[in-house]
Amino acid sequence: MKEIAKYITPESFYKRRREFVKLGAGTLLSLSLIQSKLMALDFKNDENLDKLKISDEKLATSYVNFYEFSTDKRKAVEYAQKFNTQGWKVELSGEIEKPLILSMEDLLSFPLEERIYRLRCVEAWSMVVPWIGFELRHLIEKARPTNEAKFIKFTTLFDKTQFNDQNSFFPTLDYPYVESLRMDEALHPLTLMAVGMYKKPLLGQNGAPIRLVVPWKYGFKSIKSLVKIEFVKERPKTTWELYAPHEYGFYANVNPEVSHPRWSQAHERILGSFSTQKTLLFNGYEKEVASLYAGMDLKKNF
Ligand code: MTE
Repeated sequence: MKEIAKYITPESFYKRRREFVKLGAGTLLSLSLIQSKLMALDFKNDENLDKLKISDEKLATSYVNFYEFSTDKRKAVEYAQKFNTQGWKVELSGEIEKPLILSMEDLLSFPLEERIYRLRCVEAWSMVVPWIGFELRHLIEKARPTNEAKFIKFTTLFDKTQFNDQNSFFPTLDYPYVESLRMDEALHPLTLMAVGMYKKPLLGQNGAPIRLVVPWKYGFKSIKSLVKIEFVKERPKTTWELYAPHEYGFYANVNPEVSHPRWSQAHERILGSFSTQKTLLFNGYEKEVASLYAGMDLKKNF
């Protein structure tokens, strides 16, 4: 706890409270819950603070991909300002002992931690983001999956009154946005359910009030604003796989040797600097996750 206090001064508390008050009324309820947890320093700080250079917060909250709002990053941020997350619930169903509906209060009872992770988008840019969240495996344990549960399917909110692109005559994607992980990937301790970043609640554009973060996979696996988690027997078709199966695979593990059909993945642009760097296999998490894919042809299973 003392360690955490070093990084959070009363002044930053005050500024945060002001930012918080500026947010729309709809988001306030779930945000205030998350905010009160974070302000009580009720999370464990990441000890890797010195290992990665954290991206500028402004960049991470403005250079976003959230197609439901808009494919235009600037407009996505603009439309997200009015995002209403009041009374947010996450439904758990499928191959589990009994279906569950969890409120944000329930979800915030899992142990919160800060995790400083690399984020590598399939568009060949990267950032480093300090998330706050809990390991997905805690939620899985609570759900008590049966032996039949082989994959987890995640679904984003579908609400045409809130998401401009869902309401458009020609939506960009086949909504709701769906993602999935194999059960062992979902149980991996690096797989996070994030409720905050930069020691604050997630903003609408970053997937408020709760999203997935899978740091060794391309960013599109890290689905935002989750409302449904289903435990299923068969591998579900995911949104990007349906959109362009030759371009976006189910696994989407970061891999410098597997090019996107239209561009190389060997290098990445570090957002906020003029530099590029070599892409790392599994986005630098090879030591932790390579065993999940032992014996698998990573080129075929891209
Ligand atoms: N989740 C939903 N529901 N809709 C999206 O458009 N974009 C994905 C992912 N999650 C997306 C999503 C992509 S392509 C990336 S790179 C990351 O979110 C970006 O997260 P960030 O905007 O918080 O950096």
